[in-house]
Amino acid sequence: MCGIVGCILKVGSVAPLIHDSLKRLEYRGYDSCGVATMDRGRIYMKKDSGSIDEVHARLNLDDLPGRIGVGHTRWATHGAPTQVNAHPHLDCKGRIAVVHNGIIENFAELRRELEEKGHRFASKTDTEVVAHLVEDYMAGGLGFVEACREAIKRLRGSYALAILCAGEERIVCARKESPLVLGVGADGMYFASDIPAFLPYTNRVVVMEDGELAVLTDSGYEIRRIDDWSLVSREPKLIDWSVDMAEKQGYPHFMLKEIHEQPRCLRDTLRLQPVYLDLMAKFLDRAQELFLVACGTSYHACLATSYLFSKLACRGSHPVIASEFIQNYGNTLGIGSTVLAVSQSGETADTLSAVSYAKDRAATILGITNVVGSTLTRLARVYVCQQSGPEIGVAATKTYTSQLSVLTQLAIKLGMLRGKIGHVEGEELHEWLWRIPDITAEILDSREKQVMELAKRYAGSDKFLFVGRGINYATAMEGRLKLLEIAYIPSLAYAGLEDHVFGFVDGGTIAVFICPNNNSRKVLIDEMNLLRDVGANIIALAEEGDVEVAEVADDVVWLPAMPLDLLTPIPYIVPLQLLAYYTSVERGLNPDRPRNLAKSVTVK
Ligand code: M6R
Repeated sequence: MCGIVGCILKVGSVAPLIHDSLKRLEYRGYDSCGVATMDRGRIYMKKDSGSIDEVHARLNLDDLPGRIGVGHTRWATHGAPTQVNAHPHLDCKGRIAVVHNGIIENFAELRRELEEKGHRFASKTDTEVVAHLVEDYMAGGLGFVEACREAIKRLRGSYALAILCAGEERIVCARKESPLVLGVGADGMYFASDIPAFLPYTNRVVVMEDGELAVLTDSGYEIRRIDDWSLVSREPKLIDWSVDMAEKQGYPHFMLKEIHEQPRCLRDTLRLQPVYLDLMAKFLDRAQELFLVACGTSYHACLATSYLFSKLACRGSHPVIASEFIQNYGNTLGIGSTVLAVSQSGETADTLSAVSYAKDRAATILGITNVVGSTLTRLARVYVCQQSGPEIGVAATKTYTSQLSVLTQLAIKLGMLRGKIGHVEGEELHEWLWRIPDITAEILDSREKQVMELAKRYAGSDKFLFVGRGINYATAMEGRLKLLEIAYIPSLAYAGLEDHVFGFVDGGTIAVFICPNNNSRKVLIDEMNLLRDVGANIIALAEEGDVEVAEVADDVVWLPAMPLDLLTPIPYIVPLQLLAYYTSVERGLNPDRPRNLAKSVTVK
């Protein structure tokens, strides 16, 4: 995955602005970067491997001339992260510059064809074919925009593309299956993979759709369908994310900032328009068969949701990891199937494949996502935005708790619709949901220091075990994912201890128990004892004042009493997010940038 950004200003120098915008896209990739500008009929370019700061320190990205430019921050998919493979990519004469996010599936055959015609390639990337294709069509007599259109028609795969041409006061952008947004500013036109990139400059946003090409000038944009060249009329929407929301606000890392944003995000989720939740509840009610499909953290939200639907609404459902969905259920899908897909980005390739497959077989598609205008929102019959605001840290934190809050509201609605929850009970549950933001704030205020100390003490451990039962099996899985993702400590998650676990455990093992006051508590205390006997150090998350837990655990993180087990996943995940964060920091790692991982997995 990569991030692209660019701008065409009315006056002034574009390079510092592109550099600044690229920094806000680093969560999309950070192994190499580059900027190209156009000035007085010439393309200027700087690019190299390394983070944006490293490349800027070496090359000074800010002194490229001109008021038109494009930039790229890369996460390699084709070709190693080297200087030559960094974007932008140029044609033979250095007159066309291209930045790209996505994968061009047929690049090898296009490259062969172009090489046979005499084009010389510099890189090993799939992207470079685009520059040479445009060059080739222009050499054949087409104008810049027409050549771009013809070149793009030849591409198979996914792309968000932006193309500069020497002597042209325009930028051509195109999109298929990779996110691309335009920003309409008073000082010029912007494009980017994601809104935060240009948010300091404009909040007037146009979301491009698949199969569209846009021509940007310093005073506006024109969007056309690539296939029939019909004009698309789309007005900008005002985005109410502040610039502050997209920056670190004084926290050392985005992840910590986002953990602390949870009380506010949770409040926002409770201000959702009820109409879409009501509509979604109706679809869920009438589904013959219901699948909850997602990847990673969003899958853990689905796992928790299956308990919520079952217990609050007597609604059976299958939580499925998206990559397994077609294999496991492909043959059984039909008009009676409903897929509720959960994806923060709305762009995760496996989730979208599962959804498209189900949609082709007449299944009803519902979506929960954080990105309005994402592919998932276009595939879904009904979607609900989870209202988390942009999440920059690769590790999902606030988006997980927001998903849980939205899905709990949905489960309550479904339970009421199906007559499984009475009005009074429904209102009580809602009141509790409204208390959860304050409870979360209190946990952050009162427990962060303790968790930081635990992380200091245990950061050197070589294995962790997370245990949680019932709905908190999802919490155990998510706690484990966070630790594995950003601290790289081998970890397991179990709903109940199985015999083979005892072989894994030794004196260096940290066993984390999610142990609220519910009907699994006794069993969990027994299991803590068993693990303690074989040498594990026990950390328990338990309800304030639980003496029996305190007797057996080495450390207890006390959490407020909740009226219902089903409401515990949000407060109980918070200390585990902090544990992962501080453990990563203790180990000298950067929690915002786990190795070999990007925020959104848009290719399979
Ligand atoms: O955007 P999505 O919710 O579809 O992303 C799914 C996973 O890729 C994502 O949750 C990933 O596992 C996170 N980095 C976990 O912290």
